[in-house]
Amino acid sequence: MKKNEKFFKYFKEYQWSDIFAMIRNNRSDPRICYDDFKNKLVVISGATSGIGYHTARKYASHGANLLCINRNIEKSEALCREIESEFDVKCDFKIADLSVLKDINRVAEELASLNTPIDVLIHNAGIYLTKRELTVDGLEKVFVVHHLSSFIINHHLQEKLKSQEKARIIMVSSEGHRFAAWGLRLDDLNWGKRRYSGLKSYGSAKLAQLLSMTVFVEHFKNTGVTINSMHPGAVKTETGQENGPVYRWFKRNFFDKSLKSPEISAEALYYLGVSKEIDSVSGKFFNLTTEEIPAPPALDKKVAYELWEKNLEFAGLKK
Ligand SMILES: NC(=O)c1ccc[n+]([C@@H]2O[C@H](COP(=O)([O-])OP(=O)(O)OC[C@H]3O[C@@H](n4cnc5c(N)ncnc54)[C@H](OP(=O)(O)O)[C@@H]3O)[C@@H](O)[C@H]2O)c1
Repeated sequence: MKKNEKFFKYFKEYQWSDIFAMIRNNRSDPRICYDDFKNKLVVISGATSGIGYHTARKYASHGANLLCINRNIEKSEALCREIESEFDVKCDFKIADLSVLKDINRVAEELASLNTPIDVLIHNAGIYLTKRELTVDGLEKVFVVHHLSSFIINHHLQEKLKSQEKARIIMVSSEGHRFAAWGLRLDDLNWGKRRYSGLKSYGSAKLAQLLSMTVFVEHFKNTGVTINSMHPGAVKTETGQENGPVYRWFKRNFFDKSLKSPEISAEALYYLGVSKEIDSVSGKFFNLTTEEIPAPPALDKKVAYELWEKNLEFAGLKK
């Protein structure tokens, strides 16, 4: 489909009521789940900072054991020491740079061969880059960390999770998927043909993740495995630290001032992982814990299937 055809296709689908709902939801607090999660296993990526850190602590405070997928060994050791000394749980970690295909595939295989069930899998690791960076595999970094890594891990884990007959996958998405307002450029997922922008690349990566969810939800239908995405609120974290001093100065002195505590994100991620109220809910986008309709490009099944094929190619999983 040509670019301007796509523009009109999605333009007709945008609803003011969805935008107002998003604005309303941005002001809401998350629902709280008080249930325990003793002796369950939660796998979470990017637990060394921000939302992931608070979420790991939240699950541990309710008795869950943790397996964190992080890129930094010292931070991971410190995290697990802290959690095990405060809570009566096990905290373990695997080191993987989720921008590197070799690491992603290795960690995905290791997770698939665990002989304990994974009760909740949270894809949280993320970055925000103002300048385009390519990974060692020659892929655009934001796309890989946010989207391709979660795709590959989910793909490898499909049989294991189905065999458990119960598991929840949660992808930490963002309202930022709306920055990719006119959809995904499947012919330029690597951002080689157009001007790169931090907001647009971030939006595209989150949009890609949402599109993949719409296919995974079919793969997991009637298996007891659910997959959902969520916006964790606009919260104060370490995001964007890889960028230059000007960006960091603005973040510290302007953006951060209006942001909430990542504890609300952790509260929401606990609810989405544990609450019985959403036991069989799958394929949905939540703003914290409120179900919301994502932007029209995120519901485009045709693009979702085309992206699926590209994902398999990028990941080297094409038969
Ligand atoms: N903050 C917000 O307002 C907001 C809003 C919407 C969505 N989100 C989403 O929330 C998620 C968490 O972000 P955050 O705000 O908590 O940011 P953060 O404080 O920067 O945390 C990001 C986490 O991801 C890890 N990470 C980054 N690149 C990685 C890689 N290549 N391999 C493995 N781990 C990697 C980081 O590890 P290190 O500790 O080693 O750096 C850190 O643990 C992201 O997906 C983000 O897009 C955040």
